Amino acid sequence: MSAPELDSLQSELLEAISRAADLGALEEVRIAALGKKGRVSELMQLLGAMPPEERRDFGQAVNTVKTAVADALEAKRLELASAATAAKLAHERADVTLPVREGPIAEGRIHPVSQVTDEITEIFADMGFSIAEGPDIETDFNNFTALNMPPEHPARQDHDTFYFAEGPDGTRALLRTHTSPVQIRTMLKQKPPLRIIAPGRVYRCDSDQTHTPMFHQVEGLVIDEETHLGHLKWVLQEFCKAFFEVPEVKMRFRASHFPFTEPSMEVDIGYAKIGDEIKIGEGDQWLEILGCGMVHPNVLRAVNLDPAKYQGFAFGLGIDRIAMLKYGMPDLRAFFSGDLRWLKHYGFAPLAIPTLAAGLSA
Ligand code: PHE
Repeated sequence: MSAPELDSLQSELLEAISRAADLGALEEVRIAALGKKGRVSELMQLLGAMPPEERRDFGQAVNTVKTAVADALEAKRLELASAATAAKLAHERADVTLPVREGPIAEGRIHPVSQVTDEITEIFADMGFSIAEGPDIETDFNNFTALNMPPEHPARQDHDTFYFAEGPDGTRALLRTHTSPVQIRTMLKQKPPLRIIAPGRVYRCDSDQTHTPMFHQVEGLVIDEETHLGHLKWVLQEFCKAFFEVPEVKMRFRASHFPFTEPSMEVDIGYAKIGDEIKIGEGDQWLEILGCGMVHPNVLRAVNLDPAKYQGFAFGLGIDRIAMLKYGMPDLRAFFSGDLRWLKHYGFAPLAIPTLAAGLSA
């Protein structure tokens, strides 16, 4: 092959390289030129049969073509690769300012009772209370007798109790009618000073628009050597302000009666109904939300605490009621009917975990 022929082969190949539209096309050009059976490689194979003096010059000339082609291939490869990356980036660009798309995981909802229980727990935890628990199925002793309601006590009648069949020892287990038996369990297990809350399910044989046979309470109990009514009032006031997220809450402490506290009170909070909206802490409507009082000496005796040394206060708060009030849910029965449309409307996003720092219902 003559020198001009080599030149024209080189320009033909360089032309093909510059025309390659993508990395695949470029690879085909490379194989056709420098591959085992490529046109440049075939020229190299001619060298073996040549007389030595021709071989040197021809070898050098072919090598020059080969180097020029290889360099052009590499330059074009880099150019095409960076163009491909740029195209990919332009195509896959993400707008990080777009709102998060709700996936199936975010579809679930937290029931308002669970959310409000978490809110209450957060507030009392912040005041130094710990959580205590007891079972739904209780003994007659824990639910009544130890709470200063011996058998035949008239107050037992007020509780509409669900009883189980009589056991071999003659006693009947029952579904707890309030969370107060957790007071007894706690005082039997732990020594004062005590500061606990006990949220949970309770049961009474009762059903209408504001009563369901199963509902929720949170019990509070403080036992120490110098506790008085002022502490109780302060704790409840602080709780109400934090829970309803308002600077002041109008509260009414009404004299009442519970066998396990003396004195006893019921607490109402003031609210106003403006159109469909409920405003907590002002106005002249009242809603009863809890019962409370100083722990009765007989209760302390029942758990072997000396009433001359220890005293304390207790309260029992209706979780469902304050949930209805805070989040404007009109019918208690809907809480427990398992209607997904209701839950979608009133439920909470799974990661909306209440904290005092972030604002409870933020
Ligand atoms: N256990 C009472 C009830 O269910 C509430 C209560 C608790 C009252 C603690 C006083 C002290 O009605």
